[in-house]
Amino acid sequence: MKALDGVRILDMTHVQSGPTCTQLLAWFGADVIKVERPGKGDATRSQLRDIPDVDSLYFTMLNHNKRSVTLNTKGERGKAIFTQLIESCDVLVENFAPGALDRMGFSWERIQEINPRIIYASVKGFGPGPYEDCKVYENVAQCTGGGASTTGFPEGPPVVSGAQIGDSGTGLHLALGIVTALFQRETTGRGQRVECAMQDGVLNLCRVKLRDQQRLMHGPLKEYPQYPHGTFGDATPRAGNASGGGQPGWIVKCKGWETDPDAYLYIIAQAAAFNGLAKVVGHEDWLEDPDWNSAEARLPKIDQMFDEIEKWTMTKTKFEAMEILNPLNVPCGPVLSMKELSEEPSLRATGTVVEVDHPERGVYLTVGNPIKLSDSPAEVRRSPLLGEHTDEVLKQVLGMDDEAIAAAKADGAV
Ligand SMILES: CC(C)(COP(=O)(O)OP(=O)(O)OC[C@H]1O[C@@H](n2cnc3c(N)ncnc32)[C@H](O)[C@@H]1OP(=O)(O)O)[C@@H](O)C(=O)NCCC(=O)NCCS
Repeated sequence: MKALDGVRILDMTHVQSGPTCTQLLAWFGADVIKVERPGKGDATRSQLRDIPDVDSLYFTMLNHNKRSVTLNTKGERGKAIFTQLIESCDVLVENFAPGALDRMGFSWERIQEINPRIIYASVKGFGPGPYEDCKVYENVAQCTGGGASTTGFPEGPPVVSGAQIGDSGTGLHLALGIVTALFQRETTGRGQRVECAMQDGVLNLCRVKLRDQQRLMHGPLKEYPQYPHGTFGDATPRAGNASGGGQPGWIVKCKGWETDPDAYLYIIAQAAAFNGLAKVVGHEDWLEDPDWNSAEARLPKIDQMFDEIEKWTMTKTKFEAMEILNPLNVPCGPVLSMKELSEEPSLRATGTVVEVDHPERGVYLTVGNPIKLSDSPAEVRRSPLLGEHTDEVLKQVLGMDDEAIAAAKADGAV
């Protein structure tokens, strides 16, 4: 038995944010029925293709464990079938441009009329306000949610992160909203509206930067690289690779950095482990020197401290340095490339990186469920082909017979 066995999701999502959410719910055991436009499907099926005429990795890696139904929800017959699907599902999830579902004739009021128990969950770029009608993609959300203004080096332009905090991050938020609403429905018997704005999701993940905005009003941010030599403006600045917490941290070069772009190690020079770190990097002198032997004394020269640490790390590979520093309780981590992550045996062993077989593309690699439930282990099944389950769902879920299905097909509804 899986945690969400018996929960049926009507999945109107596309691209990344919504599919991330419904894929997680599918891994937890929900029956996710992905509704796609006949003949076309989710636009990502054909985006960034690596093999001609085969569903892209963009699509396959975000739509595991789902069933695919094609349905034109703008035609009359399609709308009738969609209405029946709303009646039969526990959750409707969508991330269309603002108002798209209303324009099809399915407002929240109408959806509640059809099924008062349904949970209607949406991702939009913005919440109510001046930008509520805007279409939004990942990097727009990173810019409008505070991610870009606080990422990068002080002297450089704003930078977006490779982590998809706008899309996948908001999908995660939405999934939590949905299971919470399902939990509340156990008591109230009613569904509810669940809305996540990508701007809000990114800002939530940038919470510590809003913390720093307020700390800035009371003086310089001493753990930032701008302290004490640079200047602070009136907004949280970009901090390069400085640690967001109270302990100084930085990325230092390791052996091979001249040719390997990922030969780096993140080191946190935590006060409690400083003695061991100082000794290992050949600076036992720091331990007796009042200019160095307290966290406060080191604060104005963090850059100098990491320059010295780096002289040592450059003589070791990132893995060698980590092996030496770990027993000294120095928190550190190698900068791992996607190649290294994809080959890491421990990630394969836990199912965080998995191989999946696909009838058209063959075997590919994906990220499995990063959330591990002891009683509901996730099994990663390949993404569906476009409309692969149309007949099955129309029969099994809606009870339609062959004749009705043939008529829907003749009409272009499915
Ligand atoms: C992502 C986004 C920018 C893409 O925009 P887009 O490619 O123009 O797609 P839209 O969402 O506008 O949908 C396109 C149309 O297809 C229609 N459509 C979708 N599925 C359909 C179906 N099964 N049958 C008939 N029509 C369908 C929609 O109703 C919409 O029509 P309309 O414009 O006449 O209302 C936009 O959907 C968006 O801003 N979503 C919310 C934020 C978000 O999730 N962004 C992150 C994406 S990872």
